[in-house]
Amino acid sequence: MCTAISLTNQISGGKSYSPFDLKTYKLKSTQWNRLREDFPVTKKYSYLANAAISPIPSQVEYAVSEFYKENKFYGGTRWQKWIDNIEEARKIYAAFIGARLEEIAFTHSTSEGMNIIAHLLAHRGHAISNDLEFPSSNLPWINKGADMTIVQSRNGTVPIERVRKAIERKTRTIITSHVQYSTGFKQDLEALSDICNEKNLYLVVNATQSIGALKFDVRKFGVDFTVGNGHKWLLSSFGIGTLYIQSKLLEKESELNPPFFSQFGQENKEHFDNMKIRMSKNASKFEISSPHFPNIIALKAAVRYISKIGIFRIEERIRYLTQYLIERLAELKIQILSPLANLHRSAIIVFKSRSPEHLVGYLAKRQIIVSARGGGVRVSPHFYNNEGDIDRLILAMKTYHA
Ligand SMILES: Cc1ncc(COP(=O)(O)O)c(C=O)c1O
Repeated sequence: MCTAISLTNQISGGKSYSPFDLKTYKLKSTQWNRLREDFPVTKKYSYLANAAISPIPSQVEYAVSEFYKENKFYGGTRWQKWIDNIEEARKIYAAFIGARLEEIAFTHSTSEGMNIIAHLLAHRGHAISNDLEFPSSNLPWINKGADMTIVQSRNGTVPIERVRKAIERKTRTIITSHVQYSTGFKQDLEALSDICNEKNLYLVVNATQSIGALKFDVRKFGVDFTVGNGHKWLLSSFGIGTLYIQSKLLEKESELNPPFFSQFGQENKEHFDNMKIRMSKNASKFEISSPHFPNIIALKAAVRYISKIGIFRIEERIRYLTQYLIERLAELKIQILSPLANLHRSAIIVFKSRSPEHLVGYLAKRQIIVSARGGGVRVSPHFYNNEGDIDRLILAMKTYHA
């Protein structure tokens, strides 16, 4: 087991920092602030829009540039090394979300992953989703002509009882985000999974707004299918998405096959005879064409980086920063639109504004980056943010309202 000191050293490349406060299992604020050095974006901006696009840490840039350097100097002669890298990435990511190796496929985006799931399930029976979802969650099903019920949200939340009431005899699937992009509402996946088990339904989760910010565990939450991407909380690249399919389903439901050519998902890899292709039982059969190496390598570096800090610490840090934000907004008597009950809180806080777009533009001119979403202003801090970023936001809001 690594000691606290060596952990911080690993994260920050060997510089010596003060040790952890082991008693509380928290990083001290000076240690969090040191991690800002890995995020040059912090020099110019109070960057509080990680639910939109997060900046990458230097470690991710380094890993990707190493790949391109190798490609530049050695071409495809490094092929096997790159393939090994992908399998290592799969191992690291699987462990990160509590999955098995064979349950993970690398896609290019959340939307691609959800399209694959809709292809597999849309014709199998009625599906239930809700009206808060990002379009990527629902459109692939609608476009496949799925029989769907869209549950109406209430005050930015999706009450589980409403989902339960929508279940019919013909229902096969429940679709939900873990965290809603426009309100920050975090669904109680364990409770939803209990309902799915009771009624023998698939639980499909869009985890784009939680993986990397909050602990996400496929087994603990009891989900059957999960999608996410790299360019938000995972501090990784564009063009990388992830798809989780529970192994029991992959084994049992052999007709769950991709709608496209998957060179690497064959039992006999790189078999080019069209008539003899036999798909493997692993989720990797859903990986389209040759691997997008740089993006998968970026994800690997990012998940490694996040894991060294520890996802529980990150979740706690974000909780601290969002609480600090809530208290400072209260000083200005600004209404929070996000649900604040413990069970439903996330890394996203949306507050009310009469003209969100205008305020977001005003703040951007002052190097404070937030987003207009859900009829308000969305603030989404990651662990590398600090109180100073939030103080700057509050100060600018005071002048805006003065
Ligand atoms: C919840 C959610 N799902 C999906 C997406 C889109 O992801 P991608 O571009 O990877 O398909 C977003 C982007 O904002 C999102 O917030």
